[in-house]
Amino acid sequence: MRVVFVCSGNTCRSPLAAAILRSTEPQAEVSSAGLAAYDGSPAAEAARAVARERGLELRDHRAQNLRPELLEGAICLTMTRLHQDEVRRRFPEAEGRVFSLGAYAGEPDEDIEDPVGQGEGRYRETADRIIALLRLAKERHGWLYLQAVGLGSDHAGFPLKRELLAALRQEAVPTTDFGTDSPASCDYPDFAQAVGTAVATGEVGAGVLICGTGIGMSISANKVQGVRAALVHEGLGAELARRHNDANVLCLGARLTGPELAREATLRFLRQSFDGGRHRARVDKIRGLER
Ligand code: RB5
Repeated sequence: MRVVFVCSGNTCRSPLAAAILRSTEPQAEVSSAGLAAYDGSPAAEAARAVARERGLELRDHRAQNLRPELLEGAICLTMTRLHQDEVRRRFPEAEGRVFSLGAYAGEPDEDIEDPVGQGEGRYRETADRIIALLRLAKERHGWLYLQAVGLGSDHAGFPLKRELLAALRQEAVPTTDFGTDSPASCDYPDFAQAVGTAVATGEVGAGVLICGTGIGMSISANKVQGVRAALVHEGLGAELARRHNDANVLCLGARLTGPELAREATLRFLRQSFDGGRHRARVDKIRGLER
């Protein structure tokens, strides 16, 4: 789980956001950067004071400019929509994983504006708003909080994958596209292996695989240890695959499920959590079969 917060100078908003997230998600690898930073500048005094009031320390922070390495495999959360657009423009390779914090939290019209020169009270409001948006984002994204979804398809699933990528971007769900990249004929097991391995290693939080029927993808993905791939044709099946089977990969058939139903199924899959309880022992037995 890698997250990079981005603002302009990397001396107040983004280091504050990074310190806040580190304190609530210690397992996440969190960094911050600017789009117009003076490398090596310390955090603004007011930001340090407001952080200290919250038990956070920005003493060792040094500003840095955003570089491609910081975005590798990371979710990028920017302070404003302008930052979001600029990161997407400068770093097209991070496509699908760059959102303003407001959009990621489900408040797409909200920007965290620069508090510089406006007194400590303004910095306090900034920190409170970042905390509130991170809380909203956690509620909204549930089990997939701060994790991307890996998508893969063969040629038959390629048009539907493109539609799903756009739909997920609309919902500020971070995605990584594992191909295929054209309608040219290709073999579905290659993409099932790529997405399945990414899920099993934790590179992404969940997967969506699409071929003509979804059958080849589900057979292949289920060969990867740690993957529980569910072939589903509509929303309820997708929801129950999460709630009862703790499925971590959704397989769809582009020749069987239309784009609107596929969108609904995907969102229901990604937004539901495992119910646990009586289902836990059964999923443990599935894990036992793998051993
Ligand atoms: C390709 O024609 C098709 O066989 C494939 O997309 C899939 O349906 C396999 O299960």
